[in-house]
Amino acid sequence: MNKLILKLVREQTLENEELRWLLENNTVEIRRELSEKASEVAKKTFGNGVYTRGLIEFTNYCKNDCYYCGIRKSNEKVHRYRLDEEQILKCCENGYELGFKTFVLQGGEDKHFNDERMVFLVQEIKQKYPNCAITLSLGEKSRESYQKLFDAGADRYLLRHETADKCHYRKLHPQNLMLANRMTCLQNLKDIGFQVGTGFMVGSPHQTVENILADLVFIKALNPQMVGIGPFIPHQNTPFKNATPGSMEQTLQLISILRLMLPKALIPSTTALGTIDTQGRELGILAGANVVMPNLSPIEVRKDYSLYDNKICTGEEAAECRVCLDNRIASIGYQILNHRGDYPETK
Ligand code: SAM
Ligand code: FES
Repeated sequence: MNKLILKLVREQTLENEELRWLLENNTVEIRRELSEKASEVAKKTFGNGVYTRGLIEFTNYCKNDCYYCGIRKSNEKVHRYRLDEEQILKCCENGYELGFKTFVLQGGEDKHFNDERMVFLVQEIKQKYPNCAITLSLGEKSRESYQKLFDAGADRYLLRHETADKCHYRKLHPQNLMLANRMTCLQNLKDIGFQVGTGFMVGSPHQTVENILADLVFIKALNPQMVGIGPFIPHQNTPFKNATPGSMEQTLQLISILRLMLPKALIPSTTALGTIDTQGRELGILAGANVVMPNLSPIEVRKDYSLYDNKICTGEEAAECRVCLDNRIASIGYQILNHRGDYPETK
């Protein structure tokens, strides 16, 4: 076994040069050793259990214009939709019947869903499903807004930092979006008491090994409860339409490294990983991930929540095919668990 991998297991961190060596030597052998240790570490906390969350993509209106994202405001070709409160509650009802105990409400930054509407929605869901967790993924907001959402009953918040490097951030976003603000948002979410998730796209345009190192250092210091990473995949109506997608191999390697750095973190095997490879989500679990997030949105809107091209959203990956998911996860020796799946220390 490689000495750096053993050191990473032991110390849950490495010097930058050591991490750089691992990143630059992403061979089959290194990946095999990393995933062996990462799955061992995940099993210590989670056994062979995999948590599941029902993902409700409730609006694809967005005021922002991230260069990589298919629902950016400048994309005039996307058909915009918003689910109303009744439709969102119906998604939760379907999900609950399918066994989901966490609902993830994700959307573009849509002014229609102001604090008042979101607070009402969170309260309604909590009242109907008191034993379920609510995860929000609504982008950047003021501390006051986050506090209101937390007070209403939201449990977790996902906000990827996207890149921890200021110059790289500038290359992925227009001027009005600032890395410093993202960081402040993440700190506010943590201080308020949310279980917080951050993360980044693997292989995003202009990303360097140095940038990934900065991401790992940032994540280790923030010590979030959740870390979501997935390959960047180009979208045809964005400035990055001709960019090279991120690779599965690099994503798997980083899942393993993150598992070893944050042994108890909730790490999803993402839809993007399942999109670049039909076995991607299973391989993600074997590399150390322990969460899957099938799509619970109404089938007719799923294709409109197109962050990137060819996103999988129906068939075996979708929430309605619970048996398919259970079987796929069982085929690799794991088991889907039907409970909230909180971060271990907050139970
Ligand atoms: N608006 C919320 C936010 O900004 O956090 C949530 C929605 S946003 C679309 C969710 C995530 O999708 C982003 O954090 C980004 O990392 C990912 N994403 C967007 N475009 C992508 C692409 N082309 N390839 C892979 N992931 C992408
Ligand atoms: Fe909507 Fe980036 S385009 S948050």
